[in-house]
Amino acid sequence: MNILILGSGGREHTFAYKISQSNKCSQLFVAPGNAGTSEISINVPISVNDFEAIKNCVVENDIKMVIVGPEDPLVNGIADYFLASENLKTVMLIGPSKAGALLEGSKERAKEFMIDHKIPTAAYQSFTNDTLAEGKKFLEKLNPPYVLKADGLAAGKGVLILEDINEAKQELENMLSNAKFGAASETVVIEEFLDGIELSVFVLTDGKNYKILPTAKDYKRIGEGDKGLNTGGMGAISPVPFVDAILMNKIEERIVKPTVNGLQKENIDYKGFVFIGLINVNNEPLVIEYNVRMGDPETEVVLPRIKTDLVTLFEATFLQKLEEVSLEIDDRAATTVMLVSGGYPEAYEKGKVISGISEVKDSIVFHAGTTTKDGNVVTNGGRVLAVTSLDSDYIKALKKSYQNIEKLHFDTMNYRKDIGFDLS
Ligand code: AMP
Ligand code: GLY
Repeated sequence: MNILILGSGGREHTFAYKISQSNKCSQLFVAPGNAGTSEISINVPISVNDFEAIKNCVVENDIKMVIVGPEDPLVNGIADYFLASENLKTVMLIGPSKAGALLEGSKERAKEFMIDHKIPTAAYQSFTNDTLAEGKKFLEKLNPPYVLKADGLAAGKGVLILEDINEAKQELENMLSNAKFGAASETVVIEEFLDGIELSVFVLTDGKNYKILPTAKDYKRIGEGDKGLNTGGMGAISPVPFVDAILMNKIEERIVKPTVNGLQKENIDYKGFVFIGLINVNNEPLVIEYNVRMGDPETEVVLPRIKTDLVTLFEATFLQKLEEVSLEIDDRAATTVMLVSGGYPEAYEKGKVISGISEVKDSIVFHAGTTTKDGNVVTNGGRVLAVTSLDSDYIKALKKSYQNIEKLHFDTMNYRKDIGFDLS
């Protein structure tokens, strides 16, 4: 069958890499894609939020399956749009309905869902401009650091963690009264700070059944030792070495099952990924956030470990027969290290020529912000390449990634040399 992937990052190149290996895939399209996806599929210059252009592309190319990479089109209701269209309703779209996507689109909604379904999470209250004074009083009752979260999507920047009470009050006011994050901060969730180690669990669900995919941990800060500004993610490791069977069992019983059951009880149409951000506090897992898509760069370590044919998994997801497919996982560890443009996550230049990709041996180079210009692969974003390796443990896999990075070059290239530093 013909298949379309929506998105243009390392996550989407990884999906394309896996799906192009499936003998169920005839022609693969990526919209809009990057230089990496153009080598293994057909890039179509369509924005992920242009539903009408996507519809035309699906109809013209007889596409039978669509995998939605990023959250934006999901929160904008692409799954509902497909179901409402005569031409598209049988197309196997992998991604939740708008109601499901609200678990990521609204922090307040996600908190309410967790409370309703008794899923462990940090205590919280939410406030609007009308209740700013109450919000400030609530902050006084908490211990530092203070966690303020813009309710809506804020490109990963909507969470502030502050030590000082006066700064916290001021930022609350900036968010609620001065639109610090635009409409996204019209409502703010204030929550208890949880002190622990973070990890992510990925679930593929058809709305009734689920499969737990490999765990992963990403490294979000730009600087070594987890210092400096937050980024989309500078590297990732799978599996997370400290997750043993006991912790995994708690995660499944207390979090995964009630999440899938909660979606079902609320009649939410959900055929796609749930990315559960967790924090492990004294071996008790609590949910920090839900995302309704795969993570990036977590996908670059999770998918290469999945041995089961992805297209088969997605067909079963759409047909709500996920219980009929067995999920096979590669025992090896996977690591990825992101190469980023100098200046990222703040201003950076684009258009730098990338060299050395063909010299990489025994690692996979997934493209993120790349494009082609005058026959060269050039940088086109903050995160540029993800270098993924597999080996018997994460230390050996990381060594391969770092050895191969020596062969790669672009002007201003930057990367963290300490991925996994906190695990040994
Ligand atoms: P989120 O966008 O909700 O994932 O938050 C971004 C980051 O803020 C998370 O990855 C955590 O590192 C941190 N964070 C969010 N909520 C909390 C919390 N309640 N306690 C401690 N850290 C938090
Ligand atoms: N790496 C974090 C995310 O994809 O949201």
